[in-house]
Amino acid sequence: MDTNKRPDNMQRITTKALADKFIEEQIAAVRAQVGNGKVLLALSGGVDSSVVAALLIKAIGKQLVCVHVNHGLMRKDESENVIKIFKDELDANLVYVDATDRFLDLLAGVSDPEKKRKIIGAEFINVFADEARKLDDITYLAQGTIYPDILESIKQAEGKKAVKSHHNVGGLPEDLKFELVEPIKLLFKDEVRVVGEALGLPHAMVYRQPFPGPGLGVRCLGAITRDRLHALREADAILREEFDKNGLAEKVWQYFIVVPDIKSVGVRDESRYEGWPAIIRAINTKDAMSATIEEIPYAVLHKITDRITHEVEGINRVLYDLTPKPIGTIEWE
Ligand code: XMP
Repeated sequence: MDTNKRPDNMQRITTKALADKFIEEQIAAVRAQVGNGKVLLALSGGVDSSVVAALLIKAIGKQLVCVHVNHGLMRKDESENVIKIFKDELDANLVYVDATDRFLDLLAGVSDPEKKRKIIGAEFINVFADEARKLDDITYLAQGTIYPDILESIKQAEGKKAVKSHHNVGGLPEDLKFELVEPIKLLFKDEVRVVGEALGLPHAMVYRQPFPGPGLGVRCLGAITRDRLHALREADAILREEFDKNGLAEKVWQYFIVVPDIKSVGVRDESRYEGWPAIIRAINTKDAMSATIEEIPYAVLHKITDRITHEVEGINRVLYDLTPKPIGTIEWE
């Protein structure tokens, strides 16, 4: 039997009762697979790795070691939230690695988007492998692989070319050979969310908007600098806060700020004030292959503009990107 093929008769998980049944089955399967063995998991805080973490904590408790790598390209408060939920609330065995300097030093002066992606993907593996080598007796590696990932790999194996190298995290080095534990690999995203809620994860975490692996790295356009990255992070936090407050977070699939490496002249406190523009991207889509722009009330746009230009150091304009996909991609890089 091909364990990477979703059986035709597999029931779609749409209710808490079905999710509970799935969770019970997976707990038994994971316990049978790993016995007393230790399992390692890279916990990014995204929906998939978070659901796998919560499931494995239920199944094997402290035999699971979660490693959260902060690559310095996370959104505001994101790593803090991962620590709060998994370490403080779920009492997980969690190793937190602040690798900000490693990543930003490597990225200094690099402006090509695909090079940036490759550096971030490769360094992620390096940092994770360094942590894995420090831990004793790990035999298993858990992954938040989901069914669309398997379908995507099949497509790539058939030689279909992608516009961007999204799946930029390669395999671990040769000396780190683990058996894989992939409890949600036959689930679609909507099912993963139902399972996540049944496991008691916060709604905001389970329904959070997609966030690319290279994080803010592909939204701080061109060569990343710490000051522009900081401005982007602060502006993005304001956008998210205002979308939440105005009921837009549930209606818009992905929304974020992009900051290009250009400056324009403005005026602040009656003096010349040169700053970067913050560009709002807010799109709706079903599968990320095409995307539309929904109407955002002007009052909300004004509020966001007012807050960003007054609260964020280095930003003096706010622009709104009206480009659908195609022709624009969702991310700017
Ligand atoms: P594009 O920009 O290709 O984005 O229209 C489609 C979706 O993919 C996300 N995206 C990425 N995800 N690594 C990821 O994990 C990446 O390098 C990457 N680039 C884009 C993007 O946020 C959108 O949801």
